[in-house]
Amino acid sequence: MKKIPLGIPGLDEMLGGGVPENHSILVCGGPGTGKTSFGMQYLYKGALMGEKGAFISLEQKSKRIVEDVQNAFSWNVEEEIEKGNLLMLDVDRYNFQNMIDLVQSSVMHHKVKRVVIDTITMLRLFFRDDYEFRKGLFNLLDFLSSINVTTIATVEKPYSVREEAVFGLEEFIADGVIMLYNMPKKNQRIRALEVLKMRGTDHSKSIYPFQIASDGLNVLLEEVL
Ligand SMILES: Nc1ncnc2c1ncn2[C@@H]1O[C@H](COP(=O)(O)OP(=O)(O)OP(=O)(O)O)[C@@H](O)[C@H]1O
Ligand SMILES: [Mg+2]
Repeated sequence: MKKIPLGIPGLDEMLGGGVPENHSILVCGGPGTGKTSFGMQYLYKGALMGEKGAFISLEQKSKRIVEDVQNAFSWNVEEEIEKGNLLMLDVDRYNFQNMIDLVQSSVMHHKVKRVVIDTITMLRLFFRDDYEFRKGLFNLLDFLSSINVTTIATVEKPYSVREEAVFGLEEFIADGVIMLYNMPKKNQRIRALEVLKMRGTDHSKSIYPFQIASDGLNVLLEEVL
């Protein structure tokens, strides 16, 4: 099975090289845990390797995301956008089909291999009830896999610590789940992550601290919590 490196040092080692190609992976976390940065790093590092990516923003205007990432990190995201290696797509929040069409055309016309959806929690607005949401989500992930795309979809969680984790239906549908935490320790908070599941491959079962710095996310495998 081919693995797609996420471009996050330490996490790729935890996954034995990366995530299985064409799988859909959820990145779940509370506010400010690093979900959007995770997604942008996956696309940016992919673009540098020659794999085209598309960022589907359901939460913030994509222009604003580019500005924030340009300010936060030492990456030349704008250059990759200009070269056509990174597509920033704004979709109509209440039109599910519009999003499907946009993804399909970017994959067809631009040969996109990596897709990020930020956040899937916003997708719930497209549907009347949980049953319709589950069906729509299942169809979306299945569709992305069928067009040979490896997807990272972020999920907003109302908690930041492992002990309070409650799973939703999304975690059962996706091929893989990565949890981001922001855990209180004395008078500060420590960022940590774990791989909850990854179909089709072995992975680390440990929880490791990670940093967000000017070069992005970086998991500290030698440190214990
Ligand atoms: N260069 C940097 N050095 C240190 N920390 C940074 C840097 N750039 C961004 N951060 C931190 O990364 C954190 C996470 O940002 P990000 O927007 O990716 O999280 P998020 O989970 O998407 O948040 P939200 O729930 O608001 O969507 C921010 O709190 C910010 O302080
Ligand atoms: Mg975000």
